[in-house]
Amino acid sequence: MSTLLVKNIGCMQTPIGSFSHRGASQGENLKLSEAAILIKDGIIKEITSEGVMPEGADSADVVVDAMGKLVTPGLVDAHTHMVFGGYRQHEIPMKLKGAGYLDILKAGGGINYTVRETRKADFESLYDKTAAFLDEMAGLGVTTCEAKSGYGLDEETEIKILRVLKKLNEEHPLDVVSTFMGAHAVPEEYKDNSEGFLKLMIETVLPRVKAENLAEFADVFTEKAVFNKEESKIYLEAAKKLGFGLKIHADEIYPIGGSTLAGEIGAVSAEHLIKIDEAGLEAMAKAGVTAVCLPGTSFYLGADFAPARRMIEMGIPVAVSTDFNPGSCPSLNLQFIMNLAMLKYKMLPEEILTAVTINAACAINRSDLVGTLEVGKQGDLVIWDCEDFEMLCYRYGSNLALSTIKKGVLI
Ligand code: NIG
Ligand code: FE
Repeated sequence: MSTLLVKNIGCMQTPIGSFSHRGASQGENLKLSEAAILIKDGIIKEITSEGVMPEGADSADVVVDAMGKLVTPGLVDAHTHMVFGGYRQHEIPMKLKGAGYLDILKAGGGINYTVRETRKADFESLYDKTAAFLDEMAGLGVTTCEAKSGYGLDEETEIKILRVLKKLNEEHPLDVVSTFMGAHAVPEEYKDNSEGFLKLMIETVLPRVKAENLAEFADVFTEKAVFNKEESKIYLEAAKKLGFGLKIHADEIYPIGGSTLAGEIGAVSAEHLIKIDEAGLEAMAKAGVTAVCLPGTSFYLGADFAPARRMIEMGIPVAVSTDFNPGSCPSLNLQFIMNLAMLKYKMLPEEILTAVTINAACAINRSDLVGTLEVGKQGDLVIWDCEDFEMLCYRYGSNLALSTIKKGVLI
């Protein structure tokens, strides 16, 4: 049994409740001053404020002095593609000369380049590289993340990626939630046979991922020249039958019906949504699908920004995540993504905190455990080098995380 006390918290700011926050509730945060948090065996036991100390504070095994600073829940990054071989900095000149994301992909670069490199990489090197990413994320205040496969696109490599993630979830302090994204692109060897590729993913790989318990969610890139709405539907229905939660990369470049499908099929989340149309917005609002918005991708691709304000007004729960990957967002700094959410989405600080904590947790089915600071939840929190959350949204380019605590342990 071990207890950790965080004392002398200037301001503790958190959303409340284990549900996705939409509309006005997206902007509601609890703020306590002169607070303290007692964590026992990884779970929050008591939270006090106004200088009152929790019962049992005197006998805590570890005492952390927050020195009057801001404390929030540990951040949740609900969308990453962090297991890959091969960065793509060599594509910069092509990109600067005007080649678009889909042009580079068509020319054999883009995702296909990373697929070739990931197939060549062995388990150990992928494990070490991904562990280093998780360390970096923890240092930036992230305590739970999602990660997708999708740079294998063959049975062996997709399984290798998901095994890396499973082992890291067991061995690294961060919680890692895995998503199978076999339908991320059509690999070169199936260039003229996308139907055959989907068949392989649906009939062979999906059942194996399920049998080996390697992922909770299935995701598909519903995009022009990748998978159309009908193909996406077939793949997601197969995943649903096997018991996977559903996610869709929808309306990133062209609105071809991904967000509408998310509503129709009961997806947990639809992600990107840069080009979402009216029908998609309505379908998501009606079905309560969480929008995972990824402003770092818009920033790096020089694209438009998703209409996050409109989504909040329509009652769609909005989460904000990195999309960390070597092609469209080579940054895993969720703090910078928060700056972008304020500047580009015009989200208010309270709405942003909800987006990177409880709404992100809802998008990966972890809202009972993380995403808020409340008695009974995991003791995941961050002490920030500032006094208020506005400062975090305002300062950019620095890392303001002072200490990250995961399940009651300083990491
Ligand atoms: O979410 N859009 C599809 N997948 C990733 C990018 C993958 C890549 O370019 O390597 C994304 O942006
Ligand atoms: Fe993505």
